[in-house]
Amino acid sequence: MTTRGKIRQYLIGAACAAGALMAPEAHAAGVLRVCADPDNLPFSKADGPEHGLYVELANMVARRMGDTAQYVWWLSFSEKKALRNTLLNDKCDAYFALPADPEYKAPGVQRTQAFLDMSYAIVAPAEDKINGLADLRGKRVAVLSGSAPHILLASQKGYTTSSFVLNEDAMNALDKGEVDAAILWGPSAGYENLTRFHSRWRVTPVSGEGMSGRMAVAVRWGNDALAADINQALIDLRPDIVALADKYGFPRGKPVRLASASDGSRSMHGSGANGPADSLVQARVVRAGFIKTADTTQPAAATGGDAKAGREFFNSTCAHCHSTDGASPISARDLRRLKSRYKDQWPETAETTIKNGRPDAGMPTWAGILSQKDIDDIVSFLTTIQK
Ligand code: HEC
Repeated sequence: MTTRGKIRQYLIGAACAAGALMAPEAHAAGVLRVCADPDNLPFSKADGPEHGLYVELANMVARRMGDTAQYVWWLSFSEKKALRNTLLNDKCDAYFALPADPEYKAPGVQRTQAFLDMSYAIVAPAEDKINGLADLRGKRVAVLSGSAPHILLASQKGYTTSSFVLNEDAMNALDKGEVDAAILWGPSAGYENLTRFHSRWRVTPVSGEGMSGRMAVAVRWGNDALAADINQALIDLRPDIVALADKYGFPRGKPVRLASASDGSRSMHGSGANGPADSLVQARVVRAGFIKTADTTQPAAATGGDAKAGREFFNSTCAHCHSTDGASPISARDLRRLKSRYKDQWPETAETTIKNGRPDAGMPTWAGILSQKDIDDIVSFLTTIQK
């Protein structure tokens, strides 16, 4: 038995100032401290029956090195921040996992070789033969808001898309027949297909600009001996990694090439369950006009918080579900409507919702993760966007 799942350490950002880069060091004998996201299935999960591919793999890697894995959990909505507070602050020895692509800059961090390829995938009824983009013409296709497939389909004539913030919602739309097919982040779509839909859909990986990426384990810069040990373990564990990918339903097989209309390569950034989502992608999205950003942030702080800091925080931590500046196309997540929804009660309602979440509806609980100052800043920012 490992200690995984028991050591459930939500590190509080404010409580541990980001440390300086650490000098080269060895990890403590017998223990491999692993940082992972506590709530990011199919990749990692702190508790529950399934721990996710990264956690199972980290346990195997540690075992091969004669160590036991110990977990330090940190939500990875903002991966850079997670790295700063965990790996770079010497809270753990290895971070599972980061994009291997050198274009994904991670200062102070050294990566192992890539151990897993991931890509977007087409999710469609098994009887539909989809061998290329043209086969999606005339169909209603669910995509993730601002994702590479969204941009690709929206930039071509003859395609109808419905955009979603979460893989889960897109899969539900497919299930209800509101769309005919979807192009979603492969591992997440494959996992949902397996666990929620009894493998009812065919999930086919795709290739093309910005459609795929590879994951690696990160250690602190200069920690060569540990990187080499983990590398060797990853090589030895190749068959086990394939078995894990199958266990979690990750799509396999020959990818269907989706030709991109755009020029310039766009590689994967970010490793969340919703796939690539970083500022580069966001910037493109904004340019393409899918997400309307508020032109200015008016200083109208009611709570005494710092609206500018709140906006920055919001856009790095909450925007993948609520869109940039809270302007989600999904009404229930459109945070510009708080005032019209709750009248004078809105700041209280917002604060309570942020702290307690609405777990059943998909809004995480932030109490214990965000400081009161973070929340005040966010509420001040929300003040500036009410319609
Ligand atoms: C994983 C996705 C996700 C993340 C991340 C997320 N939210 Fe939410 N949030 C939701 C969903 C879904 C709802 C709608 C719940 C419902 O339907 O009642 C929601 C609702 C809300 C509401 C209430 C909206 C209303 O009109 O009742 C507020 C306020 C809010 N979120 C703020 C935030 C803030 C601030 C953050 C970042 C610290 C954040 N959320 C991060 C998914 C998310």
